[in-house]
Amino acid sequence: MLDALSRLRTTALDELSHATSPAELEAIRVKTLGKKGELTLILRGLGQMDNEQRATLGAQANAFKEEFAQSLTARMEQLKQAELTQRLEREWVDVTLPGRPRPPGTLHPITKAQNEIIAIFTAMGFPPASGPEVESDWHNFEALNIPPDHPAREMHDTFYLPPSPDGRKRLLRTHTSPVQIRVMEGRQPPLRAIAPGKVFRCDSDLTHTPMFHQVEGFLVDEGVHFGQLKGLLETFLIRFFERPLPVRFRPSFFPFTEPSAEVDMGCLFCAGQGCRVCKKTGWLEVLGCGLIHPNVLTNVGIDRERYTGFAFGMGVERLAMLKYGFPDLRALFENDTRFLTRYA
Ligand code: FA5
Ligand code: MG
Repeated sequence: MLDALSRLRTTALDELSHATSPAELEAIRVKTLGKKGELTLILRGLGQMDNEQRATLGAQANAFKEEFAQSLTARMEQLKQAELTQRLEREWVDVTLPGRPRPPGTLHPITKAQNEIIAIFTAMGFPPASGPEVESDWHNFEALNIPPDHPAREMHDTFYLPPSPDGRKRLLRTHTSPVQIRVMEGRQPPLRAIAPGKVFRCDSDLTHTPMFHQVEGFLVDEGVHFGQLKGLLETFLIRFFERPLPVRFRPSFFPFTEPSAEVDMGCLFCAGQGCRVCKKTGWLEVLGCGLIHPNVLTNVGIDRERYTGFAFGMGVERLAMLKYGFPDLRALFENDTRFLTRYA
């Protein structure tokens, strides 16, 4: 029995010293000291022995039990330490290295210009509003005094969509003016709002892209007149460009305003001399505006005798191209980061 105990001691301690994981250590513990472990069986056998044998073997078996437990804990500690050292090696970071600069991210020039426009108008008391890009024929045209066969529809190069399930005509909105209708429907003056958004027209050259951005603005109240509209837009342009620039109000036509005007800025690419950007005119159109047509007020249930209003719709790309000085609108949508970061 003593021999068996001594052999067990040698193998068990040897196995412990070679174990490489906590799982292996646990297996050795079960094999030795578990319910049916070899040492457990020896200890259990002590009861059947005579006194003298029990004294010698018992002392040694208990001494080994103690030794085994200590070795097990010691080996477990060693394994944990080794694992920690390995992890520290693996996850080592030189905190003294300089940081890696991120590629600089910037706002798109259109987002930037649009944010500036909105900030100027909200400071003047126009709350932001919005409407859908897929619009009904009613909001985009009919309510704005443009009936189905009106020649003004030609001006818009509309992208029509298949009708909605209930048979209503749908299209990609050609301007932000339908948002005027959406804000006025079911409400009564005084009303005012500013509405930025994407619009779509089948059109493309230096100063036209098929998707572009407009900011709509309008105000309806008693006694509203053209002088207020003109003053507001002139103030806006000086704030946006941060200096007075050549501006002209040119009489124009929109079915939803009367009288109507378009506003041109002196072409900054040729100092008004005439170039490709301004098509040799020396001027670049940036917005349309006018006093809201009484038919539009009637269409949304507002008393046309009591109230008047003004409205305007500006082209964000045009304003951005003049402010930041790039001569071709189409570059805005080619996603060349050299262009985008230069003008951001
Ligand atoms: C309109 O869209 C009217 N809804 C504006 C308006 C609103 C008038 C309220 C009266 C009252 P127009 O089609 O002119 O008008 O477009 C307005 C501005 O959008 C233009 O002055 C121009 O700056 C810009 N714009 C028009 N077409 C394009 C295009 N294809 N690409 C880039 N900008 C454009
Ligand atoms: Mg126009």
